[in-house]
Formats: sequence, C-alpha cells, structure tokens
Amino acid sequence: MDASLNTPPAPTVIQRADYQPPAWLVPEVTLAFDLGTEQTKVVAALKVQRNGQSQTLRLNGDGITPEAVLVDGQPTNDWRMDGADLLVELPGDAHEVSITTAINPAANTQLMGLYASNGMLCTQCEAEGFRRITFFPDRPDVLSVYTVHMQGSKDLFPVLLSNGNCTQQGEGPGEGVHNATWHDPWPKPSYLFALVAGDLVANQDTFTTMSGRKVDLGIWVREGDQDRTHHAMQALKDSMEWDEETFGREYDLDLFNIVAVSDFNMGAMENKGLNVFNTRYILADAETATDLDYDGIEGVVAHEYFHNWSGNRITCRDWFQLSLKEGFTVLRDQLFSQDMGSAAVKRIEDVRVLRAAQFPEDSGPLAHPIRPDSYQEISNFYTATVYNKGAEVIRMMRTLVGPERFRAGTDLYFDRHDGEAATCEDFVKAIEDGAGIDLGQFRLWYSQAGTPRVTARLDHADGVATLTLAQSVPPTPGQGEKQPMVIPLRIALFDPASGTHQGEQLIVLDRAEMQFAFPGFARRPVLSLGRGFSAPVAIDAEISDEDLVFLAAHDDDPFARYEALQQLIVKHLLAVLDGALTDAALEAGRGAIAAAFAAVVGDRALDDLMRGELMILPGEGYLADQLLVADPGAIRKAREGLKAYLGRSLEAGLLALHDRASAVPYALSAEARGARKVKTQALALLAAGVPQRAADLAAAQFDAADNMTDRQGALMVLAGLETPLRQEKLAAFLARHAGDPLVIDKWFSLQAGSLHPQALDHVKALAGHPDFTMTNPNRVRALYMAAAVNPGVFHVASGEGYRMIGELVRALDPINPQTAARFIAPLGRWRRIEPLRAALMKAELERIVAQPGLSKDTFEQASKSLG
Ligand code: BES
Ligand code: ZN
Repeated sequence: MDASLNTPPAPTVIQRADYQPPAWLVPEVTLAFDLGTEQTKVVAALKVQRNGQSQTLRLNGDGITPEAVLVDGQPTNDWRMDGADLLVELPGDAHEVSITTAINPAANTQLMGLYASNGMLCTQCEAEGFRRITFFPDRPDVLSVYTVHMQGSKDLFPVLLSNGNCTQQGEGPGEGVHNATWHDPWPKPSYLFALVAGDLVANQDTFTTMSGRKVDLGIWVREGDQDRTHHAMQALKDSMEWDEETFGREYDLDLFNIVAVSDFNMGAMENKGLNVFNTRYILADAETATDLDYDGIEGVVAHEYFHNWSGNRITCRDWFQLSLKEGFTVLRDQLFSQDMGSAAVKRIEDVRVLRAAQFPEDSGPLAHPIRPDSYQEISNFYTATVYNKGAEVIRMMRTLVGPERFRAGTDLYFDRHDGEAATCEDFVKAIEDGAGIDLGQFRLWYSQAGTPRVTARLDHADGVATLTLAQSVPPTPGQGEKQPMVIPLRIALFDPASGTHQGEQLIVLDRAEMQFAFPGFARRPVLSLGRGFSAPVAIDAEISDEDLVFLAAHDDDPFARYEALQQLIVKHLLAVLDGALTDAALEAGRGAIAAAFAAVVGDRALDDLMRGELMILPGEGYLADQLLVADPGAIRKAREGLKAYLGRSLEAGLLALHDRASAVPYALSAEARGARKVKTQALALLAAGVPQRAADLAAAQFDAADNMTDRQGALMVLAGLETPLRQEKLAAFLARHAGDPLVIDKWFSLQAGSLHPQALDHVKALAGHPDFTMTNPNRVRALYMAAAVNPGVFHVASGEGYRMIGELVRALDPINPQTAARFIAPLGRWRRIEPLRAALMKAELERIVAQPGLSKDTFEQASKSLG
C-alpha cells in the first residue's frame, strides 16, 4: 500500500507577510445561471486585465471542474489545472475569459457556495465560497462590477434575486421558465456576491435617506412567516438612520433586500444589497422569540447593514485584515444597540461575551492577535478575538480621543479609502491623522496576542493617594516575549464617607510599571478602576471586600458597580475552591454576598434590566479561567452552593420580586422586559435553594406565560430540576411549538444546557430524537454547542462528554467541516483542566486528528490544540 495514503499532506500555511498584489484584475464579470436544485449551470465571463508581469491567470476553484474554457470567444487549450485551481495562459494585457461549470446545490452539505435549503437556492461566499461556484481570483482585493443573469423554473423559483438592481425580468427560455438580470454598479470582491432563488414573500417598506433618496426595503421569507419580520424591518430602518446620524454614512443603492434561510452556517452575511440571514436573526414574535432573540435580531440586522460601508465600500485587502471590517462593524453594532436600549446593560453583556468567549481563546492553544500572522483555513479565524477583541481595540481608540475626534478619524478613513481593499494599518493611520493622536505603540494591540494582566494597588499617605499599576502580557503560541501595551483606564476615587467622587479621569498605562499620584485626599479613597471596561484586560486589584461592597452599592458607573459585585463573588468562590476557608469565614463571605444581593433585589432606584444583570453570578468558565488548573466538578459545586445559599436566605425577597414582576403585562418596553428578566433570575436562585417551591412557581409561570421569554425561562429552570413537572412541561412545549424549527432548537438547547444531574444522558437520548438532524447547523448547535459549554455535561468525570463531542466532530466533519471545527475549542482547553480529565480530552483530540480525510478546518484546530 502506498504509504502516502496514511500520512495526511502537510498543511499549507498562508502567511500575512507573503501578500502579493493580484497578477490580474477583473474589472467586470457577467454570470449566467441556469438554475436547478440538482444541477445548476454557470457561465462566467470575466474581463481580465493584466496587473503585473505574469502571463498566467490563476483562477481559484474548489470541488468544480471546467466544462468549457474560452478566451476572447474562442475555445482554447491553453489552460491546465494546478490542484483545484485553473491556470490560463494569456498573451496580452486584456482578455475576456469565459468558463462553464456545473454544480449540484442539493448535494452541498457544507453550505458554502451555492446550496439548496428548504427548496430554495442560495449562496454563501465569504470567505472562499465563490470558488465553489465558478473559477475566479477569489480574493478580496479583486473588485469587479457584476451583471447576473438567472433563469429557472417559475414554479420552483418564482423569486430571483441578486446584488444591486433588477434591470430586466422576462419569460422563458421555454415553458414554465422565467429569467431576470441584476446589475450591481459598485465594484465588489467575489465574497460579497449573492444569489437567491425560491418561493418567497416579502415584507416591503421604504426608507428615505438623508439626501432624500427613496430606498425600497424587502425582507424575504417563506409564506406564513411575514408577520414575524416586523422587528427586523424596524431594526433595519433604525440602523439606516443611526448610521447617517452617528457616522454620516448613507445607503448607496435603490434597493436593500434581506433573505432569511433556515440552513446557514453563521448568523448572517452582508452581501451587497442582498443580505442573507439565518432565520433565527430575522423571525420574531412574542409567542416564539425571547427578549434576547429580539436584541439579537436588532444587533445582527444592524451589523450586516453597517458593513455596507465598513466592509463593502471599503473592504479588506486580504483575510488577515478581517478585523478591519469585523472588529469595526462589531463596535458599530454595539454602539447602535447601546443607543437603542439600555447602554449600561448592553455594555455589561458585551463584556460578559468577551470574557466567556475571547479570554479563554486568548489564554489557550488557539490564541492569535486580532490581525493574525498566518492561517491554514481562514474560516477558523472568524473568532471572538478578531470580532470582539477587535471591537474593544477600536473602542479604546475612541476612548483615548473622545467621540468627536474619533468621528473625525472615521470620516477620514471612509473618505480616504472608499472603493479600496484596505488594511488594518490604513485604518489606524486614518484615525491617527483624522483624530490627531499618535498610535505608534498602540499598534501592538494588532500584533500581540494574549490578555494583558494589570495589577493595581492604592496607597494613601499625607493626603496623597498613590496608584501603582503594572502590566504584563502572557506568552502565547509563537509569541514568547511581549512589549508593554497602551492601556487606557477610566478611574474614579470615591470618598467613602460621602459616597461621591470628584469626577472620572482617564489615565494611560503604557509602561510595564507606573505610578499616579492624586493629592487632596484627607481620607483614603476607594478606587474604581477600569470603569466602563475601558480596556480588554484582566485587572487584579488589591482591594478589600469592604471596598467592593461599597462600590457594588455606590459606584455611579454601572459597569463598575456590576464588576465590584462580580469580584466579590469571584474572590469568595476562589477561596471556597481553595479549600482553606474556615466555617466562620465561609459564613462571613456568603453573608456579605447575600447582603449585597439583598440590596440589589430591594433597591428601588435600580431598573429591572440592570437588576437582572446584577443578579447573574460569574459563569463557570470565567471562574475556571481564574485558576491555573481547574476542576470543573468542584466549580459547579461551589457556584451552585452559593446560589442555593442565596436562594434560601433571600427566599422571601425573591418571591416578592417574582410576584411584583409577574403583574407586569407583556410589552416590549424596557420596564416590561426588565420584569421578565428578574422573574427568571429570581426563579434560577430559588431553584438552587428551595427546589420544590421553585418547581411549582416555574410551572405556574410556564402555564401563565403569554410570551416565549417567560415560557422559556420557566422551562429552563424546570429542565434542571428533578420533578415530574419537568417532563410534563417539556412535552407541552414540544407539542405547542411542533413545526417551528427555531422553537424546537430552544427545546433541544434548554435540555442540553440544563443543570440536571443526568443532562448528559438527556443529550445522548436527544441525538436520537426524530427532530434531530446533522444537516442543519442550528439544530446541531442547539444540541451539541449547548452541551459542550455546559460543564455538567462536557466535563463529567468519566470522559463521556468529551467522547460525545469527539464523535460528533468526526461524524460532522465530512458533512459540514466549518461547523465541525467550531467544536474543537472546548476540547482544546485541556491544559487548564485537572490531569485526569485533561488526559481524556487530549485523547479525544488525538482520535480526531487520526481520522483519515479530515478537513483543513478541523485539522488546523485539533492539531494546534494538541501542539
Ligand atoms: N461577514 C460575516 C459573516 C461570515 C462569518 C461569513 C464567517 C463567513 C464566515 C457577518 O458579517 C458576521 O460577522 N456575522 C456574525 C454576526 C455578527 C452580528 C457578529 C455571525 O454570522 O455570527
Ligand atoms: Zn460581520
């Protein structure tokens, strides 16, 4: 046997430093699609123009073969394959190259390129999906004007959509066939191409731009779903208006369409003039969507719309620059959501996401800077680091210069680079020039991975408070030595007697160690540091429990108030996990937290949305991150132990809170949403402390619910309890929502994410449920991602949770490698888990890399996680 069959080929590593401008440009392309679910023919006519010395035109392909190649209208033999790529030899400087390919959308389970979903055809091209449709220089720095002809069965595909404007519609060719032509005047990279054909209906509306142009808006869904598109439509109009007001950005086509599809790898995609969305980020009504779903829709609709400028008008030179569009657009959608609702709560939620998803990435084997230096498979770099840390980095620039100067910087950026494929460096330079700031050292945020750790100590003597700060950036794969970063810190010094401060200040830590002196303090002040989470760092402050209790009650910065309470709890739980607490110290610690919680539950000045936020304990993952080596079982026990204590000692107050909130009728107002949030938070604490009482209350909330937030919240609590009500309500929920895939997803997730001691067995049984399928990414994530992030399932001491996820990865990889690869990161945490479990996790990764024929996606993640 050929030995090479056993050894996987050495992975190709793409390096940022190797960037070369394209040898050929494609100023214009015409695509003709003859659409069919099992066979679609594509003829691509490329006007190509030489951009260097090479006579060889390289056209990327993936899983396609050329059926015909023409140069300047004539069949030619001057082409060859180089792996999956097509190389054409061209003598002159300008030619028209035409290529015919055939694809089978129904067989496309990867959901990249052209695929079938629920009878419709749709595309997903970012990052490298266009090459699965036709041969093309599939790289973001090749910008082309697209004309798209499509024809297909009127019956199967009554609606034909593509980017830009529809310039022609007609009958034929032949019986029952119709056709359409679309033209997009804005040059764009291939990853922004989109096509949709199907039996769809639209919710239509209009928006008038600041210069008075009328834009037709359409949200396309399957018949019967129109009534669930109103929230998305409102979000779209709000986004368009907000981007005009906040960034001066106006929409640039007469048409903006969104299509919702149920099989989609990601959340949504910003194709020019034709966004394609996962149904979960479009469809909502009170009966089927939670308040969180409503927020998700608003944020994602805004995000994709905002890409029209930050991504489409100015795109990325290469995929290493991904944060140029994603980090910036995440910041833009965060600021939008802050303006649309509670800014304080939005900030806390964003920080929670960063800590839950990005901090672990930054401290693990897959750590990379927001502008990576190399990759094997670019799909693996759509990460919390590129997105969420990327947004934090740009937010810091804004913090350093203030909103007005930041706006001057972004104005210059949009002006200077409109129509270009730009780099992160271009962005930083534009902010430097436009805002008038030196970002020399600040650029390290683009090149250094790892979460900086800041230590802080406040001394007080002779009326002067002295703040001593030190920073260090931990080593990450490939980066041993780090330089000090520029860390903006918003601080306030409180007078403990009056509970006030003399105004917030911004200090900048840009050396390894620094001291800041604050005269004029007769008494020792209380330090509030990193207000608003002004930098994506971990702060280790020498601060007493007493000061934390003070800040948790008095800090006027809502994030800082939340943070103080979190810190108090983290310190306590770490002490419990350390095992060295005396009974008296344990009691004292719990007592202090309970007192702070009681204040939160009873504080009339707090709005319920914020109250609900403050009632959430630090997550198990975040607690694990504070330890060099974590025992997930012990963390679950300690955290649930504290919840039980709080549920018991605050029972009366929690019941009263639940009672009060239950009287608030359903509405989408902040007040009503806050009421629903505290209701379920109260239930969650009661469930830990007084489970029987909580089960009855949850069942009552479930039965009385006239909306999904209350119903799901109640069911989530019941799913974690050992009570006959659990099965009863799970069955009722399933029966009520049968046939609604997005709600069935919730039903799977709730059980996989539950605190129930047998949750792992439940997940295994659910994998055999008739509604489970491996071909729909939403369903796979609903069951298995919920399981993989539930320590009570994933980390069961036997290793069965790891085995289950390992088996999933191996079974899913041939179907949908992008989705499969996303399940590796939880196993990759093995170095930070106690040795018995760590060995089992590692063994599972080894089993994965040993699988023959593994995708690049999964191979990269698994091999790096072992390495
Ligand atoms: N451009 C991405 C979609 C995408 C992601 C395409 C990965 C290819 C690979 C889109 O703008 C995006 O970022 N979507 C996010 C949601 C957003 C609100 C952060 C997503 O799909 O998760
Ligand atoms: Zn995006």
